Amino acid sequence: MRQILVTNALPYANGPIHMGHLLGYIQADIWVRAMRAMGHDVTYVCADDAHGTAIMLRAEANGISPEQQIANVQQEHIRDFDGFGVHFDHYDSTHSDTNRARASEIYVKNRDAGNIAVRPVTQLFDPEKGMFLSDRFIKGTCPKCKAEDQYGDSCEVCGTTYNATELINPKSTLSGATPVEKSSDHYFFKLPNFGEYLQKWTRDEGRLPVSIANKLDEWFENGLNDWDISRDAPYFGFEIPDAPNKYFYVWVDAPIGYMSSFENYVKTKRPDLNFDDYWKKDSDKEVYHFIGKDIVYFHALFWPAMLDGAGYRTPTGLFVNGFLTVNGQKMSKSRGTFIKAETYLQHLNPEYLRYYFASKLSDKVEDSDLNLDDFVQKVNSDLVGKVVNIASRCAKFINTKFDNKLSASCAEPELVQSFIAAGDSIAKAYEEREFSAAIREIMALADRANQYIDEKKPWALAKIEGEEQQVHDVCSVGINLFRQLAIYLAPVLPTLAEQVQAFLQLDTFDFASRETILIGHEIALFQPLMQRVDPKAVAAMVDASKDSLAAPAEAPKAEKKKEKAKEKKAEPKVGEAEIITIDDFVKIDLRVAEVLEAATVEGSDKLLQLTLNVGEAEPRNVFSGIREFYQPEDLKGKLVVMVANLAPRKMRFGISNGMVLAAGNGDGVWVISPESGAKAGDKVS
Ligand code: 2FM
Ligand code: ZN
Repeated sequence: MRQILVTNALPYANGPIHMGHLLGYIQADIWVRAMRAMGHDVTYVCADDAHGTAIMLRAEANGISPEQQIANVQQEHIRDFDGFGVHFDHYDSTHSDTNRARASEIYVKNRDAGNIAVRPVTQLFDPEKGMFLSDRFIKGTCPKCKAEDQYGDSCEVCGTTYNATELINPKSTLSGATPVEKSSDHYFFKLPNFGEYLQKWTRDEGRLPVSIANKLDEWFENGLNDWDISRDAPYFGFEIPDAPNKYFYVWVDAPIGYMSSFENYVKTKRPDLNFDDYWKKDSDKEVYHFIGKDIVYFHALFWPAMLDGAGYRTPTGLFVNGFLTVNGQKMSKSRGTFIKAETYLQHLNPEYLRYYFASKLSDKVEDSDLNLDDFVQKVNSDLVGKVVNIASRCAKFINTKFDNKLSASCAEPELVQSFIAAGDSIAKAYEEREFSAAIREIMALADRANQYIDEKKPWALAKIEGEEQQVHDVCSVGINLFRQLAIYLAPVLPTLAEQVQAFLQLDTFDFASRETILIGHEIALFQPLMQRVDPKAVAAMVDASKDSLAAPAEAPKAEKKKEKAKEKKAEPKVGEAEIITIDDFVKIDLRVAEVLEAATVEGSDKLLQLTLNVGEAEPRNVFSGIREFYQPEDLKGKLVVMVANLAPRKMRFGISNGMVLAAGNGDGVWVISPESGAKAGDKVS
């Protein structure tokens, strides 16, 4: 038996759980349940990530204290996870005394080991609010293309990255005041001290998905930098022990929340477990963090370095999931696809979503799409049409004709044995987080079970005198096969599994329990197990998502401002464009290009990286801000039109060598493609 500690990324205590969050939580919960079903001892903890400026400002906007704010949100988060069957052993908050003590200890140990530096940093300061401003609270005119209303780190129009101090006419988005430059001491974690250690750590077997380890190599090549771990007051967080008015940046104490949540769990509920057994350097226990791909940097570099620097063990592995799109696009409030957990639960059975996500997930760091039509079709066809159908076809005969008792012998031992044997590879698939493979295998078994019942036709046999035994045998085999399927699906569908366990009157429902065939066993009266998904309920959920998020009371101040700015930007500017002459126009070298490769860009939710054949010897690398509207696979092989003589632009992620043309309004962006017949390299005029 393995002893394993599992965590999910800690959600921020300033907003509701939505479909995008649930992908990772459901993935982890399925894994935990599957590992337990295989007999392992798994502890599963989480907490709210309660600190930071955003939470402080949210509380202020809501007219409550940060403590009240985080307490309210924690209740909602616990309610939502519970609603989806995501069952943590313990759910804590990073704003706890245990976490404060642990964060201080880890900091002090690192400080004493020489891993902390202090030096002054000049930043923009809001004189009205009396606080330093991070990039997202500053807006101004892009120093490069002069686009107005751009954030303090990069321009959404031309893609240039810059320092906030370079913005023209900068304004604080919090007060509207013009920020001033001000210097203060900052505390840094000396990440380069761990360069060699991390380079090896990230390549250790099973530590990280290989695609992520490769990505990290690029960061190692560029060199690691000191990490700024302090924020000046006012800040909602923990004060740094030797530094009055300096607070730990939220990302310092957030992952330490994994430890302190476990610590509080042990203290309050499991005195038989020992904190040090799990966290000491040479621990034989396993620790896994399920995280989204956007927070790899924190978990694969800072976190193991901080732990190692303080003399603790590091995680055994990071399990990384991709982003969620809904109907092929980024979740959108205006389209009603930004669906909150709470809204979903008002309309649909949570197990539908658990099943749909499971059918999509693998161990790869790939984005998943929740296509709502496919969702209805898949759940209805697989769960209702195939799995539950087996029980409803067989149970009524056992209940009504055979006094609730299964046959005294198994008529198809080989068939039942083959279902039992399949459990080994299904268990392996679960263990390897190849959930979609597990589901495919389970559904292939469901097809075989239905085929068996179709061939035997118990409903026809029941009408023939003298065939009672046959009916009894066939239906008993059917129920045995159904039980195997329900055990295999239990990690994904825990509520259904509970109902089936009660219906079959079984004491255990773990993977090993499947090995005994049910013979002469008494079952309970069959009750309908799962309803079909009603497409009207899906439509109502989408409608409600539009309504609930448009309600002004719910939109936080900063987001409202951002939305407004976006709306403003989306307004067509017909008639406002500068007039150019034909001489200006002919300077633009427009060419047809073929998209050879398209990929998402780690760390950017706006960009896609395109490799374009423009008929030149070497393909071009272009970053295009169309990530919100296109999946990489939609573009691969497509012909597009590009500006081929644009000066190369250095972006945060590399050099962009051209620009792809697209049409757009507030609702979407459509890449411009030539009619068929055109080929890569053709001139466009
Ligand atoms: O990205 C986020 O939502 C963070 N709140 C995740 C924190 S995970 C951990 F480190 F605490
Ligand atoms: Zn710009």
